[in-house]
Amino acid sequence: MTAVDSDLHDRIEQLAQIQSEVLGTGVTREVYTPAYSEATELVAGWMRELDLQTRIDAVGNLYGRWQGEQPELPLVLTGSHFDTTLDAGRFDGVLGVLGAIDALRRLKAEGFRPRRSIEIVGFAGEEPRFGAGCIGSRAMVGALSRDDLDRMRDRRGVSVAEAMRGVGLDPDRLGDALLNAEDIHMLVELHIEQGAVLEADGLPIGVVEHIAAPHDFRVTLTGEPRHAGSTPMAMRRDALAGAAEIVLAVERLSRDSLSGTTVGTVGILNLTPGAVNVIPGEVTMDIDIRDSDLAARAQVTDALLETVAEVSQRRGLALNVTTTTLDVPAACDPRIVAAVRAAAVELELPSRGIVSGAYHDSMVLGAIVPIGMIFVPSVAGLSHHPDEYTAPEDLEHGVAVLAGTLKRLAA
Ligand code: HGY
Ligand code: MN
Ligand code: MN
Repeated sequence: MTAVDSDLHDRIEQLAQIQSEVLGTGVTREVYTPAYSEATELVAGWMRELDLQTRIDAVGNLYGRWQGEQPELPLVLTGSHFDTTLDAGRFDGVLGVLGAIDALRRLKAEGFRPRRSIEIVGFAGEEPRFGAGCIGSRAMVGALSRDDLDRMRDRRGVSVAEAMRGVGLDPDRLGDALLNAEDIHMLVELHIEQGAVLEADGLPIGVVEHIAAPHDFRVTLTGEPRHAGSTPMAMRRDALAGAAEIVLAVERLSRDSLSGTTVGTVGILNLTPGAVNVIPGEVTMDIDIRDSDLAARAQVTDALLETVAEVSQRRGLALNVTTTTLDVPAACDPRIVAAVRAAAVELELPSRGIVSGAYHDSMVLGAIVPIGMIFVPSVAGLSHHPDEYTAPEDLEHGVAVLAGTLKRLAA
């Protein structure tokens, strides 16, 4: 099957129309919303068109299984997510789920019979609606507690448990989503690069070797809301001025880190009371620090926490810091790396090893099973942005390499 036969691009566009709210020109489809449930049914229908056995687990992960000749053997997992972050693109995650369906369609069409079962998974909640991402995959590996589902809340204050109940899921059944690592042979995930390395090198395929991991935390600075006109500068405890020093420290410490690959962002910042004539009394900000080099990341977060303490103390601001995510970088299994490379060679597609700056459910599953990832180029490295784009021929290359990889892993 060539790109012409595949309706992958049309299905990506069809899925992009299903939004939980419209924030701009991008796609917003947050997990545990009616729109996400509608998307799940649409994708499940596409899986059933291939005669895959579909099921949805207790936390909303969607599975579609192609029974192998020896179903008792540990199976090969593939897939990604189809929830999105805010006002985002149409390819992030979606390519790994719809592309896997396309890959299985072509393997079936050519008469391939897998020895091991191959199961496509749509991981629920990969995007951090509730502060931390990878809700569905963390449930699979037992890295989420029932209390977490009440504690983790979204930007409107809705908890994971409340949002789950809102779409008919029972948070008390969290434990049912746990996977048995013995049942899984390997996981391989197809994903857009979300960076500009492949485009700069003019290469169609990235063979992921490491996945960078986030250390995220929420900082609350509490000063004193006072009259912006009658309060002398020397009497102020301006929470936003303190936060500003910290935002710049995130940038400086990340940029100057030991590894040269650390990245840092303050993606959320809220202040009260939010009137032009009142000195900001309180600021809450969410900080995201990542690296594939754990030591370098730790050095940055340690230095940052010292800076946060020094700034708050000097400015007379009360301080509260809570860790919202603390993941470890994942290494891809050499056997899967080799299978991806071999599949690319067979298709005469040049490839290179690459580190993922973004995290993925594969990073979480990597704690219990061998993982690997296949990247295709993102135009201008743009992602988490309405203009996120991957050309049809690059989508096709990714699906073809995934099909070749699955053939090797499931044989
Ligand atoms: O933030 C990430 O790396 C992922 O895209 N959720
Ligand atoms: Mn994403
Ligand atoms: Mn993603």
